[in-house]
Amino acid sequence: MQRILLDVDAGVDDALAIILALNVSELKVEAITAVSGNVHVNQCTCNLLMTLEAMDAREYPIIAKGEAQPLIKPLVTAAHVHGSDGLGNVTRLLTPDGSRRYPMPKPRMSAISAVDLIIDLAGRYPDELILVPLGPLTNIAKAMITNPAQMRKIKEIVLMGGVFETYGNVTITAEFNIFVDPHAAQHVLDFGVPITMAPLDVTHQVILTGARLNAELGERNDKLSQFLRDATKISMAYHQQHEGFYGTYIHDALPIGLLTRPDLFETVDAFVQVETAGDLTQGMTIADLRPERPRPKPNARVCVRVNAEAFLRYFFDCLADGDKHPTVDSPPKRQ
Ligand code: RIB
Ligand code: CA
Repeated sequence: MQRILLDVDAGVDDALAIILALNVSELKVEAITAVSGNVHVNQCTCNLLMTLEAMDAREYPIIAKGEAQPLIKPLVTAAHVHGSDGLGNVTRLLTPDGSRRYPMPKPRMSAISAVDLIIDLAGRYPDELILVPLGPLTNIAKAMITNPAQMRKIKEIVLMGGVFETYGNVTITAEFNIFVDPHAAQHVLDFGVPITMAPLDVTHQVILTGARLNAELGERNDKLSQFLRDATKISMAYHQQHEGFYGTYIHDALPIGLLTRPDLFETVDAFVQVETAGDLTQGMTIADLRPERPRPKPNARVCVRVNAEAFLRYFFDCLADGDKHPTVDSPPKRQ
């Protein structure tokens, strides 16, 4: 069993990752912390609570609100992709009697901040806690700055972020999570805790189309199925308009898979740096992934391959019946 802390900027794909992580018995989700990214942290916190209510979560992890602003840059959000509420505008949906289909969630917030909770849990579970950041790395970097000694007890960081051998999704060269807070990302990469990255190079290969979602859900009309349909509509329409397919990337679910089904992925060791100053390239993640090239001292494992169909199958199997899917040992490395 792996103890994890999810750090999210929920976000539609963050919500899918939360649902997956809580449906996999191999993972113990100790906490979910919120950070500004797709939308402001206040809305992210509300969205993650609505997600937990939509899935009738059996047990609630500790929930804490994190940083509203990146370390240095002004906040950039992605409401145009995720909806103005960051969750497909489900907050606007009404039932026939005019009440909200997804009511304001019960406040179940920790009294301490996300940064303090991350530091606290790092000390409570030394060399065991795995951080799974799915948004900008502001909370993680702030925790490292605040209490470096305690944060060195973190076992590993498995994050969604970066792009190496394809185009970015915010600028030509930058992926959103790193673009929003490049200074935090560089700090985390310099810190020395083992890091595994799931960049756009692999997450762009795993597309949940509307047709696939309908095929998998069939006639199911339980609360979670309805939520999955409602929360993904806007993001699917966005990609129909801008990328020519009615579907959404499930970026943030891939780090969960890296933990529980590493056999579906391939990683390479790399020395990753972040452009924090460039006018045209700010937020770019830079690493030479060519297998024949000598590597300076690697600071991260970068995921370069995914079995996309097998991962989608796993994703839906876990959502359907909880986790009866054995995990596998560490992923094969590209020689
Ligand atoms: O670039 C994709 C990432 O940015 C995902 O984590 C998405 O939720 C947004 O945060
Ligand atoms: Ca995210």
